Amino acid sequence: MKEKKASVAKGQPVFDLHIIGFGVVGRGVVKALMRPGPDGRPQPFRVVAVTDRSGTVVDPEGLDLPKLLRSKEKHGDVTRASGEHQKWNGEQALRNVRSDIVVEVTPTNIVDGEPGITHIAEAMRLGRHVVTANKGPFALQFQKIAALAQRSGVLLKYGGSVCGAVPIIELVRDALVGNDVSAIRGVMNGSCNYILSRMEKSGEEFDAVLADAAKLGITETDPSQDIDGWDAASKLVILANAVMNRPITIRDVKVEGIRNVTAASMKAAKKRGKVIRLIATISRDVAEVKPVELDEGSGLAVDGTLNVAVVETDLAKDITIVGRGAGQMETASAILGDLHAVRRELAARSDGGGARRAGLALSGIEVGSVAKKKVATIDADATLGRAVRLMQKKGISQLPVLSEGVCVGTISERTVVDLLVDRGAKKLESLVVRDVMGPPLPELGASTPLVAVAKVLERRSAVLVTRALDIVGIVTRADLLRLVSAD
Ligand SMILES: NC(=O)c1ccc[n+]([C@@H]2O[C@H](COP(=O)([O-])OP(=O)(O)OC[C@H]3O[C@@H](n4cnc5c(N)ncnc54)[C@H](OP(=O)(O)O)[C@@H]3O)[C@@H](O)[C@H]2O)c1
Repeated sequence: MKEKKASVAKGQPVFDLHIIGFGVVGRGVVKALMRPGPDGRPQPFRVVAVTDRSGTVVDPEGLDLPKLLRSKEKHGDVTRASGEHQKWNGEQALRNVRSDIVVEVTPTNIVDGEPGITHIAEAMRLGRHVVTANKGPFALQFQKIAALAQRSGVLLKYGGSVCGAVPIIELVRDALVGNDVSAIRGVMNGSCNYILSRMEKSGEEFDAVLADAAKLGITETDPSQDIDGWDAASKLVILANAVMNRPITIRDVKVEGIRNVTAASMKAAKKRGKVIRLIATISRDVAEVKPVELDEGSGLAVDGTLNVAVVETDLAKDITIVGRGAGQMETASAILGDLHAVRRELAARSDGGGARRAGLALSGIEVGSVAKKKVATIDADATLGRAVRLMQKKGISQLPVLSEGVCVGTISERTVVDLLVDRGAKKLESLVVRDVMGPPLPELGASTPLVAVAKVLERRSAVLVTRALDIVGIVTRADLLRLVSAD
């Protein structure tokens, strides 16, 4: 992986990825990352950790991607991949592995959103950007998650969670910006569309086509999420929140699936020049998923597993977008698009913010925004209990840890509490290297310009700010981005 890093365009940062969930989509992402980037050079991303249900494999220099895929595909887990193997679950791995972007692709769960919600929230609290295709967290808690991203100063992208490869969110947010979007209607579940369009053509009954679709792998073993309309409803909720300014959850969607569509109702519709499709609609006052009769030539009457959406706007009028709503490489395409969007936005932030504030030293903002009071420090051989009491007393959430006078890193209150709960009040010392921080944190003087801070933070998640040899604060990437964008 070192050669790969060296051949990325000079001056272009390489972003460290932690992939959580290594099933169909997670592996698709790795395959996509092995292809050249937009400039024909290796992708500016490096996979430093992968977590599945068996644990986590880590290599801070970048995992060997072909070996990683072979291990998962041959043995069902990542234990044969090269790298350090740990029993860490997603949450533990997030706290122990340094990364820039977390790719969360565990299964969608619309009952409680887990484990996705925990992974996404913890990643953002730790200052990591998040890219995901997981619908569950957003179907249930879109607004909370978006607010946490904002508070944490991180980027959150979820393009792959709505209609797979079809870039509907980007279409509305970017190309149609300035339009008033009155409604989005479409086919948002490929499995239902396959079943309905096949019933229409062959005259077969629902149950027979469903059984065949399961054999062909078009539906899940338990197809209820799809055929009862919940998968389409989850996507509708994401669109409603992301591009229609409607803060709804899945409980606000009127949902009817396709179980009651019969060969007879299909035939009767056909006689009237109509076809039946499962249509999801979001407008100012409608949020519903139900089987709808459409004119045979309608743009929404697509065949097979395709997805389609019509976006109704005031300036551009109707725009129709069609494509594949699922599939390994199709969804990986959406995730790759989001990864590059994060890369571009970070570059724009540091250019814009940096240019505006290039002359401004950290000292100009540090006292008010970063370190309101002198930050306490703690020795590595202090107890965890003492660390947490100190944090509570001082009202701080990060504490620099010193070992023999050298700052070896920082520990967050959340980590301290978790460690206390997990292991009892052990000394920090034994935990410092493995659980808390890794190599010593770089120190920057309070007069360092923000652009220089941004450069150091590109490779590290935090830096220590010192003035006259006193530690006066800690700046994390999230802090810096907040400061720059608040300008
Ligand atoms: N497949 C598609 O075409 C598609 C399209 C759009 C969106 N999506 C969304 O993308 C996500 C991933 O889909 P997929 O098809 O890749 O699912 P999948 O094949 O079932 O893979 C899920 C992965 O998550 C891992 N996992 C499960 N629970 C975990 C936990 N608690 N901690 C860590 N890892 C855990 C599994 O580990 P093991 O391997 O050890 O079992 C597996 O590697 C889902 O949210 C899905 O809705 C999928």
